[in-house]
Amino acid sequence: MTAIATIGLRKWYRSGFSRTRAVDGITFRVERGQIFGFLGPNGSGKTTTIGLLLGILRPTAGEVELLGRSGRRGLLEARRRTGATLETPNFYPYLSGERNLRLVARVKGAPDADVDRALDLVGLSDRRTDRFAAYSLGMKQRLALAATVIGDPELIILDEPANGLDPEGMREIREIILRLADEGRTIFLSSHLLAEVEKTCTHVAIIKKGQLIRQGTVDEIVETGFVYALRADDPAALAEAARTFPGAREVWTERDADADVFVELAAREPAELNRFLSGRAVFVSRLVEHRRSLEDAFIEATGDAAGESGGESTGEGSTG
Ligand SMILES: Nc1ncnc2c1ncn2[C@@H]1O[C@H](COP(=O)(O)OP(=O)(O)OP(=O)(O)O)[C@@H](O)[C@H]1O
Ligand SMILES: [Mg+2]
Repeated sequence: MTAIATIGLRKWYRSGFSRTRAVDGITFRVERGQIFGFLGPNGSGKTTTIGLLLGILRPTAGEVELLGRSGRRGLLEARRRTGATLETPNFYPYLSGERNLRLVARVKGAPDADVDRALDLVGLSDRRTDRFAAYSLGMKQRLALAATVIGDPELIILDEPANGLDPEGMREIREIILRLADEGRTIFLSSHLLAEVEKTCTHVAIIKKGQLIRQGTVDEIVETGFVYALRADDPAALAEAARTFPGAREVWTERDADADVFVELAAREPAELNRFLSGRAVFVSRLVEHRRSLEDAFIEATGDAAGESGGESTGEGSTG
């Protein structure tokens, strides 16, 4: 069943005679139970898309469907069953984490028991009475996650949940997200943290300049075909023999990959390749399937090093 669907979703910001195509006609689908990573360089339209999903922004064109509901009343009802955080959550600095969550519960009409459950989930039970202002950044981010689960939402939408955290803080957020998914909730999160997304998400979409450029399972996105990295005492002899293997499409070496010889096959038949090579007196000491990282796939798709584009503007001046 579908948790989120957008059709031709578009948001153009206008100021004077210029307009920014922040979200420029994106169509995607998130099925229930998925952990869906929404990736894109700075300024690519992630926060704007989330604002449109949550009804904080009004689309210039296109449609949103949440939890199978659409239309003004349908979306209102679906958003009540959705938990979300935006980039910087609003908490009262002089109140404790617990008091802040009690206010959230009151606003959402959720029972007080939800507050205890939420504090427990994010590991803040023993710091519940400390003032929010005294929390570390990691604790603040975890409190924001706690606030999203109050009201027992089916769908959780997170904008950069681990932004600015150290590795330990990121791991804590990752574990909370996986726990939420285990409870049967659908998770949609935006992020630049590709290694995190690769460890956490089942599906991803990549946007650039407001347009969707890739969408699929993490495995589909990192898929490179049947490429194997091989090693032998004599790499030149290995490469030469591999080129004569009938199932070999391409054979190459890479300067920074030690003595590896890469072989792309037409099918998944590494054992046949190995047998063929040994028949030509080339004995392989190592043979592994070559898998690229999500970061490699992202850079190839966007032509952009992750998180290093430094607030690129998709703003486009145009008159009329
Ligand atoms: N209120 C606004 N008015 C005008 N332009 C805006 C507004 N909000 C965002 N933009 C522009 O829309 C584009 C998309 O911004 P958005 O914040 O959605 O990107 P993002 O992918 O969330 O970026 P980041 O990774 O930096 O959080 C950017 O060019 C941004 O400058
Ligand atoms: Mg953003």
